[in-house]
Amino acid sequence: MATNSFTIAIDGPAAAGKGTISKGVAAHFGFAHLDTGLLYRAVGRRTLEGMDPLAAAQALTADELEQGDLRTAEIAQAASKVAVIPEVRAALVDFQRAFARRAGGAVLDGRDIGTVICPDAEVKLFVTASAEVRAERRFLELSAKGADITRDQVLADVRERDARDAERITAPMKPADDAILLDTSDLSIEDALSRAIAAIAQKRPAA
Ligand code: DC
Repeated sequence: MATNSFTIAIDGPAAAGKGTISKGVAAHFGFAHLDTGLLYRAVGRRTLEGMDPLAAAQALTADELEQGDLRTAEIAQAASKVAVIPEVRAALVDFQRAFARRAGGAVLDGRDIGTVICPDAEVKLFVTASAEVRAERRFLELSAKGADITRDQVLADVRERDARDAERITAPMKPADDAILLDTSDLSIEDALSRAIAAIAQKRPAA
């Protein structure tokens, strides 16, 4: 473990604001950021191309996370499905833990970072919002990219993914016992980010 490592785990359901908060927190503290959903999305994309999910997880490279648009509704569902498979999850653990303990600090966002990947993270946040608010945000994001999708479809997708992510046996999405809860339903992104930064600053020893 790097001696000057500091890990911030940010978990929560889809479109709760984790991604924006994680990027903002990483920029504020000068830490590296890993969106762990991209790992499952990259594996999900491979399965849509016909590859076996475990083989795809074992062969995954960091480069794949940068290639093409992984943030489509179809890939999100495929990601949530491969994420149920314990062997796929196990194949992705080492990469995430190595990232978490790199020198200089790291922010990881996902579903099981505070509970399974980094149970010893110095700070854990669980970011939520109502399913309706999250679906509206995701709808705006996807339609801005030109996706042909309705609000109702996005809400149904969000609910389906929530249920699958929270009810799976291995590493279900849930807050760690010592996570700080942040409900962003009624918060602007600026307010949500400043609350996250304030909560983290309290736990961070003065530099
Ligand atoms: O955060 P996201 O929407 O990009 O994640 C896509 C899917 O990947 C999500 O529905 C469940 C899975 N996932 C996971 O199981 N564990 C993580 N740490 C991150 C994502």
